Amino acid sequence: DVKALIDKLDKENALSLDEWEELIRGRCDQVAEYAAEIARQRSKEIFGNRIYTRGLIEISNYCKNNCYYCGIRRDNRQVERYRLSREDILSCADIGEELGFRTFVLQGGEDAYYTDQVMCDLIREIKERHPNCAITLSLGERSEESYRLMREAGADRYLLRHETADKDHYKSLHPQEMDFDHRIQCLYTLKDLGYQVGCGFMVGSRGQTPHTLAKDMVFIQNLQPAMVGIGPFVPHHETPLKDQAQGTVEETLYLISLLRLLQPKLLLPATTALGTIDPRGREKGILAGANVVMPNLSPISVRKQYELYDNKICTGDEAAECRHCLGNRMQSIGYELVVDRGDAPV
Ligand code: 5AD
Ligand code: FES
Repeated sequence: DVKALIDKLDKENALSLDEWEELIRGRCDQVAEYAAEIARQRSKEIFGNRIYTRGLIEISNYCKNNCYYCGIRRDNRQVERYRLSREDILSCADIGEELGFRTFVLQGGEDAYYTDQVMCDLIREIKERHPNCAITLSLGERSEESYRLMREAGADRYLLRHETADKDHYKSLHPQEMDFDHRIQCLYTLKDLGYQVGCGFMVGSRGQTPHTLAKDMVFIQNLQPAMVGIGPFVPHHETPLKDQAQGTVEETLYLISLLRLLQPKLLLPATTALGTIDPRGREKGILAGANVVMPNLSPISVRKQYELYDNKICTGDEAAECRHCLGNRMQSIGYELVVDRGDAPV
């Protein structure tokens, strides 16, 4: 039965594709609670009640891609495009360090303005000013050479959600010019270059099934990433998927728990998207086994423009407000935000 599969996953940290599918199909409240309890316990054994934070700096909403789900897709003419200058980004990092962040995530659309030269100079400058901080990049698919240069410049980690491990599903979420195999190749290249790598996917994207989710889990089981970011799909009104239903809190929490059991040391964020569809989504994420939160450090002036999905939270709140708000939220469930790079445990 399903609980036996949860026990097996907890014990062996692996399942077959068919077992994954059965486990994912078998979710009910009782099973989910069973998984969450064990997941929370595993998380506590490794991280205690310490929650890692990363300061997210959304450097650009220009993007050459046209993903069917994403609010900053190329064809969305309604969004006002922006690009943070080097000075803007450095000042976000300065404010962030002051607030206790020891990881900065530079995230953006695939924007050709940020050449290898621009990125490497920026990475070096941030590292010079904040030698005790980690830099995570989340800039989409780039060349191996680019990934290498940025790694040599001092970048520590790279987030690139694989979005789905099923090729046909991937094709149904992206226009033809986006290549599934290339995206997967990028993740392995990044790993080879010594980045701590994060992959991930949306929960409840159009065409997702227990079978495609089982493939996601097997993919993660093979890749052994340092991080996995998952959050519910939330429709954006200016995208082709605007009329699709959003992902559910319950399924997202269940998958968080299963990921914790699959890889107990995994860095697992309780995402902003989860906090968007449920006012206590991030707290619930932590209680289901997540151990990271990623509040926004972007200047308020551009927050609203980095809307990948509708109703994104925190677009009107200063970085300091979010830091305090999240600190209180974590405290309310018996956890604390720590001042720490939050590297993947070895
Ligand atoms: N709903 C939820 N998540 C989204 N992302 C992009 N668009 C949406 C959406 N509409 C996620 C993708 C991407 C990450 C940066 O944000 O998984 O990799
Ligand atoms: Fe931003 Fe609560 S985390 S206001």
